Amino acid sequence: MPTLIEQIDKSRLPKHIAIIMDGNGRWAEEQGQERLYGHFHGVESVRNIVEGCAELGIGYLTLYAFSTENWDRPQQEVDGLMALLVDTIRKEVPVLNKNNIKLHVIGDLKMLPEYAAAELQEALEMTSHNTGLNLVMALSYSSRWELVNAVKNIGIDVKAGKIDPQKIDQNTLQQYLTTSNLPDPELMIRTSGEYRISNFLLYQLAYAELYFTNTRWPDFRKENLYEAIVDFQNRERRFGKTGSQIKTETVPA
Ligand code: IPE
Ligand code: IPE
Ligand code: MG
Repeated sequence: MPTLIEQIDKSRLPKHIAIIMDGNGRWAEEQGQERLYGHFHGVESVRNIVEGCAELGIGYLTLYAFSTENWDRPQQEVDGLMALLVDTIRKEVPVLNKNNIKLHVIGDLKMLPEYAAAELQEALEMTSHNTGLNLVMALSYSSRWELVNAVKNIGIDVKAGKIDPQKIDQNTLQQYLTTSNLPDPELMIRTSGEYRISNFLLYQLAYAELYFTNTRWPDFRKENLYEAIVDFQNRERRFGKTGSQIKTETVPA
């Protein structure tokens, strides 16, 4: 029996994998620990999965780290999580550079404390020359925030005469999203047994394959990722067409 990684067809990898890293709090509580202990251990999974994606040659990995709704959690958890996220990103910059990984951030960054925004900016600049895996952190992100923001900016540009409202198409909208320079995710993974999207990339996930696992995020490792990719590769992606059409034509780029 080939191992999971041997079962992966390297010529048909998902270009972009998006992950809702869920279950840190429950993982900690199940061990009688504080929720922050789970977030702390979740960082180890982030390292492992980023490394796994870089080794496989995945083009884009988006990690949902903090939603705009997460600001409503108890202040102690928000503060702890923010400090952990920023501290980790800063500490990981040398590793990102060593592995040729370019960092991107999407989200409502105005909501971030000033120190966090400054650290992030620095990390973005320090990895901007890298050409390997694109690692996108969704931080203070929500899809409805993003869509409203896009509509607002389109309105501003219509008013300024920069765009003709009659000519607005899917391409225009795409250019106003925070993901304008990223391909749509082809595989979306959510850990910890919740079957929902929680305001994540609603527009961009239109034709993504969704993969749900009961594994809590702090337990999620490369092997779990390989399992998701093998599952993805065994699916037939139809994009609205019939199965027999798909079998007789090449997969859309
Ligand atoms: C995911 O874990 C991390 C964030 C949302 C920041 P949770 O903190 O949501 O963990 P659960 O879902 O409560 O177990
Ligand atoms: C989604 O998880 C956000 C992140 C993983 C960052 P949540 O735990 O916040 O989502 P809900 O509340 O279960 O929908
Ligand atoms: Mg959760």
